Amino acid sequence: MTGHHRLEGRVAAITGGSGILGRAMAQTLAEVGVRLALLARTPEKGEAVARDLAALGAEVIYVPCDVLDAASVRAARDVVFTRWGRCDILINAAGGNHPRATTGDEVWSPEAAIGPTFFDLVSEEFFDIVGSNLLGTVIASQVFAEHMAGQHPPGVIVNISSMSASRPMTRVPAYSAAKAGVENFTRWLAVYLAKVGIRVNALAPGFFLTEQNRTLLLDERGQWTQRAQRILDHTPMGRLGQPSDLSGTLLWMIDEEYSGFVTGVTVPVDGGFSAYAGV
Ligand SMILES: NC(=O)c1ccc[n+]([C@@H]2O[C@H](COP(=O)([O-])OP(=O)(O)OC[C@H]3O[C@@H](n4cnc5c(N)ncnc54)[C@H](O)[C@@H]3O)[C@@H](O)[C@H]2O)c1
Repeated sequence: MTGHHRLEGRVAAITGGSGILGRAMAQTLAEVGVRLALLARTPEKGEAVARDLAALGAEVIYVPCDVLDAASVRAARDVVFTRWGRCDILINAAGGNHPRATTGDEVWSPEAAIGPTFFDLVSEEFFDIVGSNLLGTVIASQVFAEHMAGQHPPGVIVNISSMSASRPMTRVPAYSAAKAGVENFTRWLAVYLAKVGIRVNALAPGFFLTEQNRTLLLDERGQWTQRAQRILDHTPMGRLGQPSDLSGTLLWMIDEEYSGFVTGVTVPVDGGFSAYAGV
């Protein structure tokens, strides 16, 4: 990636930094010389991703962090500040859906229900999904943004939304509600932080095959499910996203030279999915 040399030496904290999209965004930033803190729950995974990125030349640390635990996020921030004395970029990429928070049917049919219905989902599973996607974004923003205020270069927060935010996808009620909350919170925080120079925007990826949606998109034989086929049919570009598809939009969003007057927006990176009415 060229044209983003001014980002060299900045520091980014990425929650969910060892997930598939988090890692891809970390790699994009490493390629322009951003120093990285991967904030993730599972040490083996976080350390392995940090090692892989370091082998590619990245300056990177893994920091244990559960975004649902404010004390753990504060401890992670302290590690980042001890190491580099600042944080310029926060990417809130922790989140995703879980099969336990997913209904079997798209539309309830009491006589022929397939798998768990909405009424079978238990509140703990709802809490977990709304927690990791929405509250995790709120907590990490709270913990980091206070220390980014008035910084030069200016601080930036990037949240991760979804196609499910504006029109909820079937079967994933907690995830959809959480991502709608993320977009709403993105606008709220953008206004709140505007005078201290921190911009807050969101990326809304279309459909990318990752751990959190694998069981919705692939069957036991590794073939597309009917749901995946419908997604492809409703994506004018006719394919799922590749993690690297997020790179250009992410760099644009972070680099104040290109997007310095942009705050409070959500940008879809979705191959046209959100523009297409289906006919
Ligand atoms: N894959 C897609 O098609 C898609 C589409 C739109 C949005 N997203 C969003 O992109 C983001 C990244 O997801 P992904 O697709 O790379 O999936 P992924 O499962 O590979 O990564 C998600 C990561 O978040 C971490 N995480 C979850 N809860 C956490 C917590 N409490 N504390 C710390 N880390 C936690 C997981 O351990 C995992 O590493 C998520 O917010 C997801 O909702 C994904």
